[in-house]
Amino acid sequence: MRRVRPVCGTGSDLGGVPSRLSARTVPPVRGERCETDDRAGGVAPGGGRAGARGGSGATVDAERDGRTRAPGGRVRAPGARHGTATGGRVTDGASAGGPAEERPTENGPTENGAAAGGGWAGWREAAERALYGGASASDGPGTDTGGFFLREAPAAHFRTAVHASPLFATAVAELLLRLDEALGRPPVLDLVDVGAGRGELLAGVLAALPPRVADRVRPCAVERAARPAGLPDRVAWSAAPPAGITGLLFANEWLDNVPLDVVESDGTGQLRHVLVRADGRERRGGPVGGEDAAWLRRWWPSCGSPGERAEIGLTRDAAWAGAVATVRRGLAVAVDYSHARTTRPPLGSLTGYRDGRQVAPVPDGGCDLTAHVAMDACAAAGAAVPGAGAPLLLTQRTALRRLGTDGRRPPLELARTDPAGYLRALARAGEAAELTDPAGFGGFEWLVQPVGVPSPLAAGPTGETDPA
Ligand SMILES: C[S@@+](CC[C@H](N)C(=O)[O-])C[C@H]1O[C@@H](n2cnc3c(N)ncnc32)[C@H](O)[C@@H]1O
Repeated sequence: MRRVRPVCGTGSDLGGVPSRLSARTVPPVRGERCETDDRAGGVAPGGGRAGARGGSGATVDAERDGRTRAPGGRVRAPGARHGTATGGRVTDGASAGGPAEERPTENGPTENGAAAGGGWAGWREAAERALYGGASASDGPGTDTGGFFLREAPAAHFRTAVHASPLFATAVAELLLRLDEALGRPPVLDLVDVGAGRGELLAGVLAALPPRVADRVRPCAVERAARPAGLPDRVAWSAAPPAGITGLLFANEWLDNVPLDVVESDGTGQLRHVLVRADGRERRGGPVGGEDAAWLRRWWPSCGSPGERAEIGLTRDAAWAGAVATVRRGLAVAVDYSHARTTRPPLGSLTGYRDGRQVAPVPDGGCDLTAHVAMDACAAAGAAVPGAGAPLLLTQRTALRRLGTDGRRPPLELARTDPAGYLRALARAGEAAELTDPAGFGGFEWLVQPVGVPSPLAAGPTGETDPA
């Protein structure tokens, strides 16, 4: 597996921390399938780390059987959905490309894996434990044994648009300014960042706002990790969004980290839950039923051929609807890499990240676990919240352009009259180009949910549209 490199050195202050962006633009060379592990009666995620584990080399590239996964990486772009994700596939390894044989479970199949025992659990439960379980450093000295995101700063492992350039925070500040006008300049203007990481976006937006508005802003970071040292006192830190928000709720790369269950179609075309152990070995559990099956029928109807996988977005729908419900008047915005009903990846998109590398999704607390977001399903769930208006889905490229982010190069003439200004403008243009690159961050999707106000991100007078 190649080490992921920053795509370009445009103003990142992360000291060379690799980007998940490059994990897609430089496709990982890891294999795409699980490899056989007969000792366990299950399978272990294979791929690039197989060699390190002394694997048998039985991994199979997803493209060999003509099927694809969603592109790996924290960035996805329309039209670039070649297979790079690293989720394991339940298989006996010998039947690469063909239907996987179900292996007997130790305790019998279960509906969702929760009661499987023997260390087996559904992916939702396993990821919840791996990412957010246990104690965090905030619980006191010596308790820093919690899940990945309780211990680790996201920026230490991957780069989001927030880290890529301060222009992202500038655009969010512009959105807040427009919203402030639409709300009639309320005395208190809420700015709530859900999945705030270490509060970097809030700090950037506050710095980008004019003082007359910044003074009225009530900033709140919503995070499962502990409050970091050095955050300004005025920024509230909370495990849940406050109720009755008047203003902007913004969630960049939050929903992809909301754990979900994974299913796989068996040799007969029956969808079954995928169970996983902490070492990443997988096997099939019980058949999918109830609301899980109903969600898949509605939102992921393409999953059915033997070996195909899908990820049940119910948890993300509920999380998003819950966030929208906290907005009394204003906007809720989710930004993430996504797929739509007609473009779901046949092999799913679950993958892992650690130290900037795309790795097998092993739920041992040692890596980020992420899967693309069914944003259309989230949009429907948010729109069903009482008081919510019509949601808008648009690419980050379109959203940022509507907010004034401009990737055009400065005129050459400026280089002669103001060389330093020219270089600054050139650097800014490079950062804007990265944020709006359709093959990178620009391909992210913005889900914009207005509540009681017209959306300040609606298409302009030119009639430019970017329909859901
Ligand atoms: C990929 S990071 C994104 C961080 C930041 N928004 C950025 O763009 O750089 C996802 C963050 O969401 C947080 N998170 C996930 N689920 C959450 C929840 N239910 N409530 C609050 N934070 C959550 C994680 O702890 C993690 O810090």
